[in-house]
Amino acid sequence: MVSEKKEASKIRSLGILTGGGDCPGLNAVIRAVVLTAERAGVRIQGIRNAYSGLVHNQFIDLDSSKVDHLLQYGGTILGSSNRDNPFEFMMTIDGERRPVDVSDTVISNFHNAGLDGLIAIGGDGTLQITHRLTQKGLPAICVPKTIDNDLLATDVTFGFDTAVGTATEAIDRLRTTAESHGRLMVVEVMGRNAGWIALFSGLAGGADVILLPEIPFTIEAIANDIRIDRSSGKNFSIIVVAEGAHLKDGEVVIQRMADDPTHPQRLGGIGNIVGHLLEEKTGYETRVTVLGHIQRGGTPSTYDRNLSTRFGVHAALTAIEGRFGHLVALQNGSITLVPMADAAQGQRLVSLDSDFIGVARSVGISFGDEN
Ligand code: F6P
Repeated sequence: MVSEKKEASKIRSLGILTGGGDCPGLNAVIRAVVLTAERAGVRIQGIRNAYSGLVHNQFIDLDSSKVDHLLQYGGTILGSSNRDNPFEFMMTIDGERRPVDVSDTVISNFHNAGLDGLIAIGGDGTLQITHRLTQKGLPAICVPKTIDNDLLATDVTFGFDTAVGTATEAIDRLRTTAESHGRLMVVEVMGRNAGWIALFSGLAGGADVILLPEIPFTIEAIANDIRIDRSSGKNFSIIVVAEGAHLKDGEVVIQRMADDPTHPQRLGGIGNIVGHLLEEKTGYETRVTVLGHIQRGGTPSTYDRNLSTRFGVHAALTAIEGRFGHLVALQNGSITLVPMADAAQGQRLVSLDSDFIGVARSVGISFGDEN
């Protein structure tokens, strides 16, 4: 106890940054960190645009007056980036654009700014970068975010619940037109190569077919299930497709390559392929909707606001105690700390034994896999 108090007194100033794609709840974490730190007399410096702000010395002083209103705002007031990895930072040298290792600059700029610790909010890319920086001596804590919900170390990431809510509302809206016109409605959702958003929104939206990256599908199996529904009197079908889903004998569909060192492939396009093939196979009129970044925006759900606030408070209190090198995580309903070295490994995909898959099959949802 005595030594913890002694540690706490050493921490006077913390930096905070947001890395990777934005998601609802980032601002709520920033708010929780600042409010908690302020009460402990610890100053918070916001760092602009992920690690780029530590390369270019871009800081913002944060206090309660600047963050108190942020709970319900999506995005991040700090700006974010999924390009700026300090170990491969793109720079123009002698007229040539090339990656340079600026990790030592990041660490010296961090110390020159008078910071005693860093809170890095991000997904697997930010986690891996931060872990490498901690091995070089940077005192840091990570907070997990992503709408994809695919981090192994935590049961849930904030942003996921809001994205699922948005996708479910979209499915509800598409259902009425599908029913009025007797159409097949294909909805492509995000999630990279994890099917969590598709599974949760598809089940909540009463989809007839859910296509996941974890379960390769065939058009024949989907068409067959749709025909069975039609013969029992249903005149429309909702097909939710994860952007990372793929045909049994096909590849994941890549929309473009991005300047992103962790995940350069941007997925997308499978919805249109499925829509086209199903219309051809079944003869039913089909429309395709790609939800895209609508899922990443907007006000965070109640669940995400509270998870973000819990993560932010725990990250701040842990850092104020001078304990670094961890990811704040949710496990079995409680907030816990996972060593960054363990947290940086692996991706959490939908397990085929998951109760959600079993429940979905029990209510007649097809995964397009001839089961
Ligand atoms: O990881 C979050 C996510 O929204 C994925 O679901 C999606 O594949 C990707 O980011 C899109 O990235 P960007 O915003 O760079 O197009």
